[in-house]
Amino acid sequence: MVRPLIYDEEKNVLRILDQRRLPFEEVYIETRDGFQVADAIRDMVLRGAPLIAVAGAYAILMEVRRGADRERLRKVISALRRSRPTAVNLFNVLEMIENVLHETGDIERTIEEKVLQFVEMERKLYERIGEYGSEVVPQNATVMTYCNTGFLATIGIGTAIGVIYRAFQKGKVKEVIVPETRPYLQGARLTVYEMRKLGIPHRLITDNTAPFLMELKRVDVVIVGADRVVLNGDVANKIGTLSLALAAKEFGIPFYVALPTSTIDPHSETFDGIKIEERGSEEVIFVRGNPITYPDTPTYHYAFDITPAKFITGYITEKGVFRDIKEAMEE
Ligand code: MRU
Repeated sequence: MVRPLIYDEEKNVLRILDQRRLPFEEVYIETRDGFQVADAIRDMVLRGAPLIAVAGAYAILMEVRRGADRERLRKVISALRRSRPTAVNLFNVLEMIENVLHETGDIERTIEEKVLQFVEMERKLYERIGEYGSEVVPQNATVMTYCNTGFLATIGIGTAIGVIYRAFQKGKVKEVIVPETRPYLQGARLTVYEMRKLGIPHRLITDNTAPFLMELKRVDVVIVGADRVVLNGDVANKIGTLSLALAAKEFGIPFYVALPTSTIDPHSETFDGIKIEERGSEEVIFVRGNPITYPDTPTYHYAFDITPAKFITGYITEKGVFRDIKEAMEE
């Protein structure tokens, strides 16, 4: 399996698969410190809420092993916080590290332990998400998923794609429908790449085809990932998720969100005051370096939207499938 991150213990460097070059080239870039990792996250070299949190954790580990003092660690944390504002997993990891910085004594050792514990936990939990989630997939299902949530977005088999893969292994999946996911094309470039590697039958559609397929009764279940889930159950995920949820509701199709509980924002009841990332116009206007319209055209480019809890059939987590996200917190 292709690994999106490779931490080289001996050299203390983090190799990051450059996802901007997929599906055609598998190239790694080498990062040596926390600032380089922050740049890579901002520039979308790697992406996916759980994966950027693991990269952030390794960034801190590299720094500690290079002898960074508290002041430098605080600067690295702040650079990582500025890299991408909506996905919460990275913020949860940074908060854990910051709490250690308040302690006295041998904090380097504590930080190393916490980072390694977190990475170990992340490695294991996607199998459980996949196992629980596969139960909600009907026999012979056509499953729609969105954005990219597989082994490129996590350090395991993935969230929504982890569920799909497990259900596929159980013989339940007929086909996966992959919307292309404009403008960054995570679906067309990354999910299709993963589907091929995993041997799962799939079909690519333009994003605007999705509701029509639902109207035609050609979709049995929709399963997506999440970048942040707040305590009222609303979900921030890749822009376009909301349109899928609305259409699924209208046409009576179950709509599930798969996530590790590290994607829950424990401090926020709602999305009030939480920044929804806006990215540059060039990502809308240029596709792989080629302009599709006048370069000075004004754009909107929100990276995420917010799907209200009322459209969500259930949350698939490593602790089980829940109707109410607060139940996952209590488990
Ligand atoms: O902008 P991206 O590519 O980082 O967005 C990723 C997503 O929206 C995923 O669906 C989400 O991170 C969940 S991934 C397991």
